[in-house]
Amino acid sequence: MTALPSPDHILAAMQDIVGASGCLTDAADTESYVTDYRRLYRGKSPVVVLPATTEQVSAVMAWCYAHDVPVVPQGGNTSLMGGAVPDDSGTAVVINLRRMNRVLAIDTINDTMTVQAGVTLAGARAAAEESRRLFPLRIGSEGSCQIGGNLSTNAGGTAVLRYGNMRDLVLGMEVVLPDGRVFSSLRGLRKDNTGYDLKHLFVGAEGTLGIITAAVLKLMPQPRASAVAFIAVESPDAAVKLLGEARQLAGPAVTAFELISAPALDLVLEYLGDTASPLPERHDWMVLVELTSGADEEALNATLMQILESGLERGWVKDAAVAASGADAQTFWRIREEISDAQTRTGGSIKCDVSVPLSRIAEFIGNASARVLALEPATRMVIYGHMGDGNVHFNPLRPKDRSAADFLGQWYKPVSDLVDGLAHAENGSISAEHGIGVAKRDDLRQYKSQVELELMWQVKRALDPKNLLNPGRVLPGLDSPK
Ligand code: MLT
Ligand code: ZN
Repeated sequence: MTALPSPDHILAAMQDIVGASGCLTDAADTESYVTDYRRLYRGKSPVVVLPATTEQVSAVMAWCYAHDVPVVPQGGNTSLMGGAVPDDSGTAVVINLRRMNRVLAIDTINDTMTVQAGVTLAGARAAAEESRRLFPLRIGSEGSCQIGGNLSTNAGGTAVLRYGNMRDLVLGMEVVLPDGRVFSSLRGLRKDNTGYDLKHLFVGAEGTLGIITAAVLKLMPQPRASAVAFIAVESPDAAVKLLGEARQLAGPAVTAFELISAPALDLVLEYLGDTASPLPERHDWMVLVELTSGADEEALNATLMQILESGLERGWVKDAAVAASGADAQTFWRIREEISDAQTRTGGSIKCDVSVPLSRIAEFIGNASARVLALEPATRMVIYGHMGDGNVHFNPLRPKDRSAADFLGQWYKPVSDLVDGLAHAENGSISAEHGIGVAKRDDLRQYKSQVELELMWQVKRALDPKNLLNPGRVLPGLDSPK
């Protein structure tokens, strides 16, 4: 067995490929690349490499493959699952794509946009807007997260109900494989039935199969009108019924349907400090609803009113604030988007990101809440998320008088196991949109069949036979490897 190259040897090789300015080694410079966004995972790396071209990524990968050096691909490093930072062995090179941040082409006839992987989501959305188009993926971290990471994690967010996940928004991809070869399907085709659709292997693979370097994305018409309301509902069950009514009355115009529990609202208002609840009274459950369409504003507002009236008549809706301006709508959305950071700041939140069939979601929330509260009655039940997609962020938060370390030490595992188990029993998923990373890797053994795990490993071995790309992420060890 040949010895692994020393850190100096690795650095010299990387400098040869990307230049000295594309290599970071000082602890102060590399800190934000080896630590995850929530500061729960902190690793080490001999060098953080910042390639500027696909050719450089390919050369880096080929060298690392030839020398058995592991590689951790990284975009905006906003993963909630520890999927984008190295472990603390100090052996893996981090390849961050942030210098590959160019919009390569926009085709307004084909309604496509070709971008390098390091373009931020906000950058992609702004570029689309300049061409009077919409790139519809919408998540709170849009200013930092990058298109490559969005694809690698099959990002979801608040407009999936209408436009789908990232997987639904991509037409072509360029990916550097672990041995340095480049796979490219950078064509903007909406129809191409020429065998396996290989690009989809890399969507949601969290950088374990290849490094995405560019993509062709779908563009949509910009909506001409939007109507937004912050609605107090009787219960999660009433919210599901209201969603059904909204879809009946507004069809595909229902763009977002986000559930918010009272403790989630309390927390975010406390965190923001400068923002009041849109509703005069406190309610246990609220939904943020957004309709968008190509029709005129008046017609859309009338439809929203119809939905609210119907909800009031049936006792599902208790109160509602309708955004009277773009500024109101922004405030409503800010409240929703900041729930995540409010929890990070507070600390002590058990983040479960589950999905169940919509028909089971109310019962799931009721059961899971009762079971958690029976364990620790003062837990703040921060429950929110993309109800329209059957996806709840079910995040029990420490009681005010308990420290994060204390609460998580006692309850992190039992509560996550409980919530994930209940979701699984409802035919749900233990990770609806946040992925697996390292945080949920070993849980997959319990929730995926042996056949699924074997197939995952077979794909992994076919593309990355040396297990060098993002090792230890996503795939749990197999009891009897095939
Ligand atoms: C959200 O919906 O806000 C995101 O998925 C992030 C989170 O839950 O922390
Ligand atoms: Zn979410």
